Amino acid sequence: MDLVCCQFHSGTISEVQKHVPSIINSCNIASRIHANSSGPSNYKVNGLCRGRGSQHSLFLDVASFKAPMQRYDGTNVKSRVWRSPVPRATMAEQHTEATAPLPPIPRSIHDISNGDHILGFGANLAEDHPGYKDTEYKRRRSHIADLAKSHTMGEPIPNVEYSAEETQVWGHVLKALSDLYPTHACKEYLNSYPHFNFTPDRIPQLQELSEVLQRTTGWSVRPVAGLLHPRSFLNGLAFRTFHSTQYIRHGSNPMYTPEPDICHEILGHIPMLADRTFADLAYIIGTASLGVSEKEIWHLTKLYWYTVEFGTVQEEDGVKAFGAGLLSSFGELKHMKTGTDGIMPEFMELDPFAKLPKMSYKDGFQKKYFLCESFQDAVAKLQAYSKQILRPEVEALILEAKRSQLGKML
Ligand SMILES: [Fe+2]
Repeated sequence: MDLVCCQFHSGTISEVQKHVPSIINSCNIASRIHANSSGPSNYKVNGLCRGRGSQHSLFLDVASFKAPMQRYDGTNVKSRVWRSPVPRATMAEQHTEATAPLPPIPRSIHDISNGDHILGFGANLAEDHPGYKDTEYKRRRSHIADLAKSHTMGEPIPNVEYSAEETQVWGHVLKALSDLYPTHACKEYLNSYPHFNFTPDRIPQLQELSEVLQRTTGWSVRPVAGLLHPRSFLNGLAFRTFHSTQYIRHGSNPMYTPEPDICHEILGHIPMLADRTFADLAYIIGTASLGVSEKEIWHLTKLYWYTVEFGTVQEEDGVKAFGAGLLSSFGELKHMKTGTDGIMPEFMELDPFAKLPKMSYKDGFQKKYFLCESFQDAVAKLQAYSKQILRPEVEALILEAKRSQLGKML
């Protein structure tokens, strides 16, 4: 089906009524339009494109509207189609992207490679990486990357024999962060943390962590040689699989890493994935990413960034961290609570439909964090967004998986 996707997320009912007819005309959509509502925050209008002779769909997000959507049935919608005055993208942009072929949908984790789409950091380090001039460190990285590439999903993850120096780095990071967790980490993190028995004198192996996740939430860990392409990484979440690096940051600066490393993965991500509601949040982002356009992948990457990596949640006694970029960084955690150089970070309400700020990798601590009322609230918001972009085939796969109680597979 040829798809035109319009998503609108603000405006009053009268504004919507005023603007939509012109969009319909510009799209050259014939009058044979019928509507169906898939929920209070989604409104889908199917129509026939007169010019091209192919079927189109308009998705009207009416999350902020108070009117009862159910009463707009197929006959009413012809004269009562809605939009907000500020569409997320022009119709031309939406149409161009929508007509580009969409990528195939992976049916299982075996359809996702953990070695073909490495963006960097594996064994090839950038000039500003602390280990760039350290030949032995790069050799070590290369060895660990090869171990990850040799892994086959379903087989035990190869153990890494960490050196005394590497273990010392881990211990340093663990001790520093452990002091902050009671006051800075969200309660879900604190609840899950004891499952793992982290000690400063031993770096846990991914296999044992994966086994704990299997028992708690049904997730698995899969080793990866470096930073995976966002599509592959997000797709993995749909199969409840977390791609994790195994190498460790350079010993010259244990409190800093420009990339995900084993300290970030284990201390930031793994305990959160043992919490069911958080695991659901990651799963929703993952399923939404299956077979969608590049543009949607980048929006989902930002949603992932501002939740799974740098999310914060409001608790009774203040703002707490649930994002891995916070939970694995001593400096970032302190910055979240007390700011830096007298400047406090900004906390914003999460709106998955809104244009999200650019992700900041190397400009120091985050200037903005998204603050969730609760995980349940974040899950509901992400679910509403996911419904807008979920491909019908994926929807069918999810239903099929639920029906046959194969939830672990998708
Ligand atoms: Fe991460």
